[in-house]
Amino acid sequence: MNTKKTLSTAAITALPSGIRRMFELAKNYPDAINLTLGEPGFDTPPGIVQAAIKGLCDKKTKYTPNAGICELREAIAYKLRTENGISCDPDKNLIVTAGATQALMLAMVTLVNPGDEVIIQGPNWPDYRGQIDMVNAKTVYARVSEKNGFKMTADIIEPLITEKTKLIIINSPSNPTGGVLDYEDLCEIAELVKKYKLFVISDEPYEKLVYDGFRQKSLASIEGLEDYVLTINSLSKTFAMTGFRVGYICANEHITENLIKLHENMIASVPEPMQLAAAEAILHGEEDVRRMVEYYDRNRRLMVDGLNSIRGFSCLAPRGAFYVFPSIRDFKMSSCEAAEYILEKTHVVTSPGSAFGDGGEGYIRICYASKHENIKEALARMRTAFGEK
Ligand SMILES: Cc1ncc(COP(=O)(O)O)c(C=O)c1O
Repeated sequence: MNTKKTLSTAAITALPSGIRRMFELAKNYPDAINLTLGEPGFDTPPGIVQAAIKGLCDKKTKYTPNAGICELREAIAYKLRTENGISCDPDKNLIVTAGATQALMLAMVTLVNPGDEVIIQGPNWPDYRGQIDMVNAKTVYARVSEKNGFKMTADIIEPLITEKTKLIIINSPSNPTGGVLDYEDLCEIAELVKKYKLFVISDEPYEKLVYDGFRQKSLASIEGLEDYVLTINSLSKTFAMTGFRVGYICANEHITENLIKLHENMIASVPEPMQLAAAEAILHGEEDVRRMVEYYDRNRRLMVDGLNSIRGFSCLAPRGAFYVFPSIRDFKMSSCEAAEYILEKTHVVTSPGSAFGDGGEGYIRICYASKHENIKEALARMRTAFGEK
């Protein structure tokens, strides 16, 4: 009766973050250039900030409906219909969440039982694995390869499907690789989903951060998938709003009703000033997005060309997100050792590929959403330390 209680298995078994570790090590270098976190290098556009301030001044400081305020749901539904080709009723198919992170956790709790299998790409954004563990489900990795542009295609997914498979998570453009799925890839995944009647989360926070004329399509725009696909998106990366914590899920009516029930138990609602700011971003933020994407694109080209000219690195040009995922196999070290070696020699902080789970070994992730000057300086330091090819 009076024995000391232990913490939950979820807490005890949670894996420490390989990215945080680099963060801690970086503290030893006052001139460090930190290219680890997926954080836009821009301030949040002023119109969006003003909308939040106005919300506070107008005393919008109470709970909102669980699903989110009407203005925001209507703005999201309009965006999904006109930009993504997803038909969406703001009163039946939408819920506003605290970023994509909570959207994913909420979706996971709503869809997945202990023992179910969830297929994700490897390497992947580490929180997928953490969340799957939290619901006592099993992570099944669909290993993607650099040769195929890091795409999680239907032919990689299908052999992994078993009786226990409940959910597939797709993420295009992808963190950490910057790889994207073309429309044909999505159509093939759609066929699988219909054949095996699986749930799919399409996690699309980098949807607008795309380059070389690529345009990201949404899986849910393909006909016949209404009962299977949950589209998750976030304002964080697109509008430099990571700290606002606003995202959303679009799903069929039955799933949405259940998401709303569990959302009440999780966070009840997202702060109203942040929802007002999100509506402002969606309705009036396009020009800011265009400006930021242009800036990231210049960094992307600097980074890819720069790394490919430095000894030890080989880097595919990503078509989306704001990460490069270069191979560091020529360093003849593990990715943790290589990231630490690079930090020690150049004071540039990167994330070891192994922090992104299965298939990440042999690579590092570098976020290029920083200022041009930081990218140039980081490359100059690496060139000096490791030499030209
Ligand atoms: C693939 C992916 N999904 C979701 C998120 C969560 O974003 P947020 O919770 O800020 O919306 C991130 C953040 O890095 C991400 O990379």
